[in-house]
Amino acid sequence: MRSYRIAAMGGDGIGPEVISAGVEVLKACAERDGGFQLDFTDFDWGSDYYRKHGVMMPADGADQLRAFDAILFGAVGAPDIPDHVTLWGLRLAICQPLDQYANVRPTRVLPGITSPLRNVSGPELDWVIVRENSEGEYSGVGGRAHRGLPIEVAQDVSIMTRAGVQRIMRYAFRLAQSRPRKLLTVVTKSNAQRHAMVMWDEIAAEIATEFPDVTWDKMLVDAMTMRMVIKPATIDTIVASNLHADILSDLAAALAGSLGIAPTANINPERDTPSMFEPIHGSAFDITGKGIANPIATFWTASMMLDHLGEPNAAQRLMRAIEHTTANPNLHTPDLGGPATTRQVTDAVCEALRMAND
Ligand code: IPM
Ligand code: MG
Repeated sequence: MRSYRIAAMGGDGIGPEVISAGVEVLKACAERDGGFQLDFTDFDWGSDYYRKHGVMMPADGADQLRAFDAILFGAVGAPDIPDHVTLWGLRLAICQPLDQYANVRPTRVLPGITSPLRNVSGPELDWVIVRENSEGEYSGVGGRAHRGLPIEVAQDVSIMTRAGVQRIMRYAFRLAQSRPRKLLTVVTKSNAQRHAMVMWDEIAAEIATEFPDVTWDKMLVDAMTMRMVIKPATIDTIVASNLHADILSDLAAALAGSLGIAPTANINPERDTPSMFEPIHGSAFDITGKGIANPIATFWTASMMLDHLGEPNAAQRLMRAIEHTTANPNLHTPDLGGPATTRQVTDAVCEALRMAND
């Protein structure tokens, strides 16, 4: 039997609630499938760990994770610890050393969910955002000097490398090529940022020649926000820098109905290291412990994980179980305007998996 080792890390806030729901659903997937087993190891890294040990995870944390086939990650962030400490101490401290350079964010309007766009009933909005996940505005290069003085200076330097841009463009073109429409939009801001973003555009055009069957266009990031709202059906696959895609993906999630359903995968396409799968939403302290967190984003990312592990049938079966569940408004959590609890949604998805006849 095929067997996969999964690191499960709930992290902060509602993270542990949605991850334990995700683990339950993944176990149901394995049981229903019969062809593989999943072996979970729990990690308690995050803000509680920080309060005890002064670090978000052990110094060799990323190395410990190398032994796994994939990582399932909840959320990070706590009201009493600065966000840049929690984020750089855990999530980015995993993504960067494990070189998970492609962040993939599918967006669709799932059955039963209403888009705030009045012309979107469902099929008009079916996108995948590819976010550069290793450099750009999140390189971590910069510094601060003369703190508190009138001459204080602070700098965050956006770094783009030819190798980094080439590999994300190649990933995005390949992904666009694998989708029926073979359509890619390269998001840029090369009118105002005249060094790195100009190189970004040039490399996009170079890589495009390797994919003659992919239709592609280029869009300034500000204009892209309008296009996403006004002409969503003209978009399929999107590639953007770290910060641009961060912003566009929140807009995408809102247009698809809720941040509570949006998944993401931090992928190392070469498979030298484990990839990490997580919901896009954060730790949501306002609803922590209430049992009403929407687990759908975690289930969707779990489906992406199964696909990445080489279990496409199980991945598709889980996606169908998710869609079967979202189609019932009584099984919507409060973020979607419904009455359901995390428990009820989890039970419904597990039940749909058990009942699946394919
Ligand atoms: C995301 C999130 C994070 C990011 C936050 C938590 C810093 O917004 O995954 O989109 O910007 O990467
Ligand atoms: Mg974000």
